[in-house]
Amino acid sequence: MEGLSAGEAGSKEDLSALQIRYDLEKIDRLAKLDKSISNTFVLSREEHEKVKKALKALVKNTVSDESIDLYINERLALGKLTPFLLNEELEEIMYIGRGAPIYVFDRKKGMVKTPVVLEEEEAVEIIKRIARYSGRVVNSEYPLLDGRLPDGSRVNATLADVTPRGPTITIRKFQTRSLTIVELIKLGTLTSSLAAFLWLVIEGIGGIKPANTLIIGGTASGKTTTLNALSVFIPRRERIVTIEDTLELRLMHEHWIPMETKLPQHESGSEVTMDELLKNSLRMRPDRIIVGEVRGKEALTLFTAMNTGHEGTLATIHANSGREALSRLQSHPMNVPDIMIPALDLMVAQNRQINEEGKLVRRVTEVMEVSGKEADVFQTNTLFKYDPKTKTIEEKVLNGRIIHELSRLTGRKINEIDEEIERRKTIVEAMVEAELPLGGIYNIVQTYYEDPDKAVDTLHTLATKAKSK
Ligand SMILES: Nc1ncnc2c1ncn2[C@@H]1O[C@H](COP(=O)(O)OP(=O)(O)OP(=O)(O)O)[C@@H](O)[C@H]1O
Ligand SMILES: [Mg+2]
Repeated sequence: MEGLSAGEAGSKEDLSALQIRYDLEKIDRLAKLDKSISNTFVLSREEHEKVKKALKALVKNTVSDESIDLYINERLALGKLTPFLLNEELEEIMYIGRGAPIYVFDRKKGMVKTPVVLEEEEAVEIIKRIARYSGRVVNSEYPLLDGRLPDGSRVNATLADVTPRGPTITIRKFQTRSLTIVELIKLGTLTSSLAAFLWLVIEGIGGIKPANTLIIGGTASGKTTTLNALSVFIPRRERIVTIEDTLELRLMHEHWIPMETKLPQHESGSEVTMDELLKNSLRMRPDRIIVGEVRGKEALTLFTAMNTGHEGTLATIHANSGREALSRLQSHPMNVPDIMIPALDLMVAQNRQINEEGKLVRRVTEVMEVSGKEADVFQTNTLFKYDPKTKTIEEKVLNGRIIHELSRLTGRKINEIDEEIERRKTIVEAMVEAELPLGGIYNIVQTYYEDPDKAVDTLHTLATKAKSK
């Protein structure tokens, strides 16, 4: 400020710092008396507003809004990371070490460097808070943390013992809503034809021979989102069990049992692994098993299940190509023997690409079926493939092994099955046209199984309504 000597400015700062400390202590004293406030973890705007209102009432407006915001951030949320957590546009929040700015991955803008810098102590404080909430221990002996926030966001953190440039924090924010099949088509992730094909093979005709399917792709390529979107095609009469490390899948189905692995609470504590959950789920008489991500021993259990008659299993796996997925499945630690591989019907490969406008798009780049083995190497048959020249996902071979098998098992002619896919394609197109939300999509698909004409009629009415708007 003009006219103030350095000393005066300093003492003014000290004074306001003192005031803030006094405010925070006052809020804390009162907040501690109210468990509903002191036990909250503020992770959304609504929660922030709610807690702020409650705190204001508690302190009877004797404390400034700034102090209340600061209190919420420091004590009930994640300090300087809080504003990023409340921002719905962000997918990921990254702290990369002392003195470095925080990076965020924005849904539209991609990677963004923010001006916010965290001190090492602040970062450690945040990491400890997340560890406490997740029931984990993190210290120089155990400097790695896999935790999560109450809203389902996943957190990985490391301490300076293993990241010499200082602690790191990576938060994958939980998306309050997962993209639907209609949205994925609008985003160019897949096409109506491909969606119609997947609809038929994931359902299996009238429940006969639903395909065992793997969604493959790199980190954050959108595998889980695609898997979730495809789940609307599972008939609602089925009993579904999903198995994940962190609950991410959200199915519309009523008869759905989500299972989640349990981490040990401390070094000597017990954990429940994905493999144990999968083995357990096989004793639950499921019609459909969905595994969030296969990466270890559970792969063998899954393939054993597929080889003993479990159909329509769906899973994701981290791999950059079909060939890589198969080779990962066959090597340590998954160890799926050769003889079991052909039980896998379909692989859907998804990638992150930069489009002509420089924007990030997630796209299904190839759909393959496992066809056979030549000279000890499994061969795949490409059914759909993205062509960068035409910028579309081209149909290469529709009637491969899966359609032939469906024909053989149901007694339907190949061309009848193709016609059915074509019919479903028009329905998918109409759903996209009408921009149906998740509930609508689920209803149309499920009605279609019971009464196709009724589904078409309902959709027609909805589409006309959407057009007249
Ligand atoms: N088709 C898509 N178009 C645009 N954004 C998408 C698409 N699919 C997913 N996303 C966004 O990308 C992020 C990562 O998606 P998702 O968790 O599905 O990826 P993943 O491949 O399963 O990641 P991981 O490797 O961590 O398991 C999410 O924020 C999600 O909203
Ligand atoms: Mg995933």
